Amino acid sequence: MNSCTKRLKKLDITKSGSSSWRAPSNIALVKYWGKKEVQIPCNPSVSFTLKNCFSETSLAWSPKEEGSLTYEFMFEGQSKKSFHSKLDQFFEKIIDYIPELNHYHFIINSKNSFPHSAGIASSASAMAALALNLVSFERSLGLDLNEEEFIQRSSFLARIGSGSASRSLFAEVACWGDHPIFGNDHYALSFSNELHSNFKNYRDSIVIVDDQEKAVSSRVGHALMNNHPFANERFTQAHANYSLCLSALKSGDTNSFIKIVEAEALSLHAMMMTSSESYMLMRPGTLQIIEEVRKFREQTSIPICFTLDAGPNVHILYPSDNLDVVMKWFNDKVKDFKVIHDELGNGPEMIL
Ligand code: DP6
Repeated sequence: MNSCTKRLKKLDITKSGSSSWRAPSNIALVKYWGKKEVQIPCNPSVSFTLKNCFSETSLAWSPKEEGSLTYEFMFEGQSKKSFHSKLDQFFEKIIDYIPELNHYHFIINSKNSFPHSAGIASSASAMAALALNLVSFERSLGLDLNEEEFIQRSSFLARIGSGSASRSLFAEVACWGDHPIFGNDHYALSFSNELHSNFKNYRDSIVIVDDQEKAVSSRVGHALMNNHPFANERFTQAHANYSLCLSALKSGDTNSFIKIVEAEALSLHAMMMTSSESYMLMRPGTLQIIEEVRKFREQTSIPICFTLDAGPNVHILYPSDNLDVVMKWFNDKVKDFKVIHDELGNGPEMIL
């Protein structure tokens, strides 16, 4: 874990400063579902990085006399006390890695590019943006990291905030979780250099089937995997799907890609339906869209497919080659739903 945990010299705790980062959301192709403390996944996952769905977070720091870390948090310009318990837990978990935090007061400002009511999880992009700012803070105090180490450490800290956030630090496609062929439990890795050109122009159009806050949080969902009757089978399946998915992404095999991605989405929701307590996040509209996607693929041979995160909304993945035909289909078959069109993105950006 070297760059994530190593401290070679004492940092200068007299400096004040600020930084600002934009970090994207991501959509998992092979799902992370089930974890050990602290966000160590039970299986590896791989995701596409998005472009238009992102969080922008700025951090300002000023040294203070003594005591422990203090902060103010603003979301979209408003003070948000309701986010404090998640942030408090996060800071508590990372304080051993960044002990200098205790000598500072922070002002955090955050906003998302997508509406709060879109039902899109913001924890991945928000935690990734915050982690990038925290490593910028460490760097300004004298922590010596090259660019690769900077991103690796940001991914490591982001993971402690929210597992899927570890993957939001990379362009196009990212992998997270131990696997004999590729991957690490502690931080995510880029798979972009291996990505076949067939996938470089993929888009993700998110069909908002329901924009309400979901009935069961991902935190509860992960916990339900602890005593799940099919947990071991699921983790074995995910390990196998992970290596198949990486092979498909590398070779450009869109047929295998579609098979794996759709199976992963349905397995994730099958876990929810068969856990104790059982619950279901798909809505009738979710099934309607899934059926339309499959029909359209059969009719046109366009390599279009769906995936789901832990909610009712459908992510539709397709190449931009036949955009006219696909947009016509959206206007015809998906017209009753709000859609957020997105595409593969280039990862986080520092805001100057
Ligand atoms: C279904 O990363 O939100 O989106 O680590 O508890 O914050 P925590 O969970 P979270 O879980 C994401 C679950 C998922 C699948 C995925 O993104 O891999």
